[in-house]
Amino acid sequence: MRQIVESGTLRRTIIQDEDYEMVILDKSNIDEMMELQDRIVRNLKNPETFVMDSREFILNSVLEKGKGLAIGVYAGNKLIAFRTVSFPGNTEVNMGREIDIPEEELEHVAHLESTVVDLEYRGNRLQAKMMKRTFKILYRLGYYHILCTVSPFNYPSLKNVIDAGLVVKALNQRSGQYGGKWRFLLARDLREITPKEYTLSVEVKNYDLEKQQMLLNKGFEGFLLSRDRHIIDEFFVHYGIPYKDNTKDIFE
Ligand SMILES: CC(C)(COP(=O)(O)OP(=O)(O)OC[C@H]1O[C@@H](n2cnc3c(N)ncnc32)[C@H](O)[C@@H]1OP(=O)(O)O)[C@@H](O)C(=O)NCCC(=O)NCCS
Repeated sequence: MRQIVESGTLRRTIIQDEDYEMVILDKSNIDEMMELQDRIVRNLKNPETFVMDSREFILNSVLEKGKGLAIGVYAGNKLIAFRTVSFPGNTEVNMGREIDIPEEELEHVAHLESTVVDLEYRGNRLQAKMMKRTFKILYRLGYYHILCTVSPFNYPSLKNVIDAGLVVKALNQRSGQYGGKWRFLLARDLREITPKEYTLSVEVKNYDLEKQQMLLNKGFEGFLLSRDRHIIDEFFVHYGIPYKDNTKDIFE
């Protein structure tokens, strides 16, 4: 039975709004998920920005009990968006090691895997809405280190992820399914109660990968995006040195 975690109304055209329901997905939804993902990939403007998850990965590392979770959005009976998450545990794929998360906290890491929103439903901030729900569920389950990778050329996704409080911690070419594609590694610790403050702020063009790597190696974090022209591939990432932060339960 569908486990509804949110419902509301979506803007489709000026004259047509549509109700939606956000639900927890399970293995019975795999065909709809693959169909939606295939459609998104066929319509990608820049193939650099999105790497599709395999059916096997979604079944075994997301929808398998205890391995991850997925949230979907239905408009009518149609799946129009989903977000997948995996729990890497203390395995070698855990990206926490890349940003020096202490060994004893690696079990608390959740990887945000992919999000897709059907083309005609974009602009409803569905990625952000699904992320907010996902964080609440993850925190209740004991996952407080939220990590994900995003292409430096994917403005909508990066904007949503940074708005959700994740910050850029690293930038490199990733192997495996990414085949050498450039990805930011972003992270948020859900135990942090106040937004981080930064000093020594500098803004860098998103495609200046070398400069961003140099700043990240010096301990800077990317905490804000801006753009002066609405060109999807060109924007600025603002970097700064974080002040030391304090941590506590944010949902209490
Ligand atoms: C990334 C994605 C999930 C976001 O969809 P969404 O939740 O509907 O996002 P929104 O449309 O609300 O957009 C978020 C931001 O991106 C901007 N944006 C969206 N589409 C854009 C476009 N084609 N060109 C320029 N900016 C765009 C929006 O204006 C907004 O920015 P703002 O806050 O500065 O105004 C969706 O674009 C998608 O499915 N992309 C393909 C798959 C993908 O890349 N997934 C993410 C990596 S896993």
